[in-house]
Amino acid sequence: MDKIKITGGVPLHGSVQVSGAKNAALPILIASLLVEGKCTFRRVPQLQDIRTTLKLLSQMGAEVSSDLENNQVEITCAQITQFEAPYDLVRTMRASVVVLGPLLARFGHAKVSLPGGCAIGARPINYHLVGLERLGAEIRLEDGYVIASAKKLKGATVAFEFPSVGATENVMMAAVLAEGESVLENCAKEPEIVDLARALRAMGADIEGEGTEQIRIRGKRSLHGCDFEIMGDRIEAGTFLAAAFATGGEVEVRGIGPECLEAVLLKFEESGAKVTRGQNSLHLASPGTPKAVDITTQPYPGFPTDMQAQFMALMAVSTGASIITETIFENRFMHVPELARLGADITIRGNNALIRGKPRLTGAPLMATDLRASASLVIGGLCAEGETTVHRVYHLDRGYEKMETKLRALGARIERLSE
Ligand code: EPZ
Repeated sequence: MDKIKITGGVPLHGSVQVSGAKNAALPILIASLLVEGKCTFRRVPQLQDIRTTLKLLSQMGAEVSSDLENNQVEITCAQITQFEAPYDLVRTMRASVVVLGPLLARFGHAKVSLPGGCAIGARPINYHLVGLERLGAEIRLEDGYVIASAKKLKGATVAFEFPSVGATENVMMAAVLAEGESVLENCAKEPEIVDLARALRAMGADIEGEGTEQIRIRGKRSLHGCDFEIMGDRIEAGTFLAAAFATGGEVEVRGIGPECLEAVLLKFEESGAKVTRGQNSLHLASPGTPKAVDITTQPYPGFPTDMQAQFMALMAVSTGASIITETIFENRFMHVPELARLGADITIRGNNALIRGKPRLTGAPLMATDLRASASLVIGGLCAEGETTVHRVYHLDRGYEKMETKLRALGARIERLSE
């Protein structure tokens, strides 16, 4: 198992290119199950979760040719022979439950392991199942598996109880091949949903309203292959900007439209950073120590839960006290005891964390618990005096492409070591 060693205290400076968005790429690669023809995907990040997705698709019978070093993947799902996402895969990557929608829509059956809980919360998939049932799927649970079937899905109105990202994606992918029109209400509005809609449209789907509460889809008999480039990763971009601010540096991130990160940029500005929004880039300069500001995580366009841990590392070195409220996941403060090992002063009360900023943190050995928690520990280590080691960096490798290489290019003293 690898670990990351950081010698902190160096302000980050320079320019960094953002990779393709993991959370857009995962459902988009899976959408290739909807079509017989070849799908070419570009700007696919070289990440563990992407490899897991490609393995899942191969196991199902897809022809997969990947050149992840160059961020390109070709998938042809002409001969799907397995309609199952087994426990071992779903356990490691919950996003694989979105195979349900496309498999049901094109082949009429699917068997997917129930994911179970994970480090950040219980994360059930009831909204996915209710939505698919509305389109006519018959669903039963057996031996820990969801077994779904439908002769032909039929368009319907689906009103989500909560704007779940995964449920919106699953039902969108089912509806594009359903008979007739579907109206999805209270949809997730995340930019990754918009990117999935763009990809589905590139496959010939008739879909409108993505990025708003209501998505309308007129089902097609069949879709076709596509050539599609994945959007830039807004959370990776936000993570680099938080690291730059926390270390007192100045960084440009390239390959990202600024509008998709607006809630985070506003909080950086409220905290004193100078942010410049380019057409396809962002620049952040830190004129001094960050000021304490409160945040509450919300569905998009609110402050993203996937930036909460990184923002907390920033607040740990701010002047003043801030409250961070997590409303999306019930257990997403696993980074707190680890940040405390660096000397951060954080108290948790339910889903609120009170952070009293400190002028300095000091290096320590740390344990990563999930993807965004790992990123916050790296930011903590970059600010801390002395040496920090972050263990279990496989969590980081699930969602950040070449993070330590990119940080090193910005001047960080960071290296990966084999344990
Ligand atoms: C997506 O997860 C992202 N994952 C997460 O990214 C992200 O944190 C999350 O959206 C919120 O933005 C991918 O895109 C692969 P949800 P998802 O369904 O789809 C509850 C990262 O670090 N819920 O919007 O699973 C659920 O338990 C990650 O990259 C139900 O109760 O998120 C959670 O509390 C982690 N029943 C809330 O809704 C359901 O059927 C939001 O979940 C579905 C969800």
